[in-house]
Amino acid sequence: METTITKKVDAAELEQKVKKMYSDVALNPKGEYHFEMGRGLAEKLGYEKNDLDRIPAAAIDSFAGVGYYFDMANIKEGEHVLDLGSGSGMDVFVAALKAGSSGHVSGVDMTDDQLNKAESLRNEYKLETVSFHKSYIEKLPFNDAVFDVVISNGVINLCPDKEKVFAEVARVLKPEGRMVIADIVTEKQLPENVVCNSTLWAACIGGAAQQDDYRNAIENAGMEMLIVRNNDAYGFISKSARGASKDYGVKSVSLFAQKK
Ligand SMILES: C[S@@+](CC[C@H](N)C(=O)[O-])C[C@H]1O[C@@H](n2cnc3c(N)ncnc32)[C@H](O)[C@@H]1O
Repeated sequence: METTITKKVDAAELEQKVKKMYSDVALNPKGEYHFEMGRGLAEKLGYEKNDLDRIPAAAIDSFAGVGYYFDMANIKEGEHVLDLGSGSGMDVFVAALKAGSSGHVSGVDMTDDQLNKAESLRNEYKLETVSFHKSYIEKLPFNDAVFDVVISNGVINLCPDKEKVFAEVARVLKPEGRMVIADIVTEKQLPENVVCNSTLWAACIGGAAQQDDYRNAIENAGMEMLIVRNNDAYGFISKSARGASKDYGVKSVSLFAQKK
């Protein structure tokens, strides 16, 4: 079904571009990208130094998120947490610090090199309260109502069918469970030439939904949006990405929504 935020892009070509870009992010974190990465970015966005010091440094090197939300997520000891598009695992490892030895954090990603890196860090550091799963976030490999919190950082903008992702989030959350995410949205609708540019899409711009459409998709899935915060510290690097960002109000937000 074509909806307001289901964008016109070649989904197969896009998937290959996204996988290639985020394989590079896992294998070559010091490379040149449209976006910032690593510990400098994490600290700028608001991550606690003390948390970063307690998780594997190699996961931080490949961090390519767009915002901070752990203050809003307020993950408690014993909670079950799911990270959509977990990349090299940084947010999974931070969430595991909060959920403690009686909690569990599951990460899901579709890119093998990201998953392999996260999994090998899990094994090397014997982090037994986390697990990584290969899956599309549009079709999650979990039963209904099993998670207290769903987190995600810089991922849902990459998905052509955002309604499907939010429907899956609502399905796997327990009643009153929370979705706390950072993502890229726009103030104005993006024009076709930006939406159909799969390189800008893979760089977290082309797939960004207009902010009211994004909110409607979350609420239509059965969640109530309670907090929206702009992440002013986040900015794009390349000229093309900065140009699109300025023209259409492309920005990072952190959001808190609760399942009804
Ligand atoms: C911008 S990176 C962010 C990774 C991680 N959250 C972080 O903060 O470093 C986006 C990640 O989402 C994954 N991804 C994108 N679309 C996906 C989908 N439809 N299903 C599963 N994973 C996806 C990519 O493979 C990539 O690892």
